[in-house]
Amino acid sequence: MKKRDLLGMTDLTGAEVQAILNDAIRFKQERKIGKFSAELEGKTIGLIFEKPSTRTRVSFEAGISEMGGKPLFLSSQELQLSRGETISDTANTLSRYVYGIVARVRAHNDLKDLAKHSSVPVINALSNLEHPCQALADLQTIIEHKGKLEGVNVAWVGDGNNVCISLMLGCSLVGCNITIATPNGYEPPAEMVGKAQANAAKSGSKIKLVNDPAQAVSGADVVYTDVFTSMGMEAEREKRAQAFNEFQVNGKLMAQAKKDAIFMHCLPAHRGEEVAAEVIDGPQSVVFDQAENRLHAQKAVMAFLIAK
Ligand code: CP
Ligand code: NVA
Repeated sequence: MKKRDLLGMTDLTGAEVQAILNDAIRFKQERKIGKFSAELEGKTIGLIFEKPSTRTRVSFEAGISEMGGKPLFLSSQELQLSRGETISDTANTLSRYVYGIVARVRAHNDLKDLAKHSSVPVINALSNLEHPCQALADLQTIIEHKGKLEGVNVAWVGDGNNVCISLMLGCSLVGCNITIATPNGYEPPAEMVGKAQANAAKSGSKIKLVNDPAQAVSGADVVYTDVFTSMGMEAEREKRAQAFNEFQVNGKLMAQAKKDAIFMHCLPAHRGEEVAAEVIDGPQSVVFDQAENRLHAQKAVMAFLIAK
């Protein structure tokens, strides 16, 4: 059977997303009673990181260990990659040792190249274009707090970035509605919006792009934001601070969502920039449930792609 990768959310069908989420929910329940599956027993999984990480790295390392496997963390600086060895030679070589590769890269095309030349599954641990593991954990979190995905109204406020793109695609696969409020020029790329619209036509979800945060959060069950300046875009920090001036999620904006709306953020967060402390540290915030669910959702992804 041909190996499969998770480079972006559209590598999965809606039914597969649901199946992965069901497994993630089961893994979470089982872990509470000390039950662990040994689905990766004897298997080493390589983790290549070109950018810093707290949640993704630790949740993958812990998850692989809990499944009986061995995580092998490889900072890109310590690989011959840093001295010019090609991605294809690296992929071909690593495939002889490990059963899966988890990679956080600067350029999404490098991830595609890695996957093309690997004979083992490659999982995107964040690229400039997508963050599918985050989106799966986020959908799991929405189920926990809202009881379902279909018909739930998500409001994204901020940058149309990697996290936004994967969440939009994820929502479009499972019938969740999403309204994305960005400043003009910071929308998710048209090609990705087109993919989401195509999925939405089948799943029944509604995808909307607006420029007014208040319009996005009106009637929202979930309000989500992320940093205005993602990793690798630091040179744009000043310009972005101005463009996003009106896009902070604060108490006033949250008050315009449904009364029982939850607040979500993939973390790391910058209090006083994209989110006010009163919101992220307040009663509506579920950000640490999201962080926890990274562990369970990624275990489910590895069970789906690698353990079978
Ligand atoms: N949300 C997330 O991916 O966090 P890290 O950058 O800490 O992995
Ligand atoms: N959009 C952020 C997410 C970090 C987890 C970034 O790419 O830096």
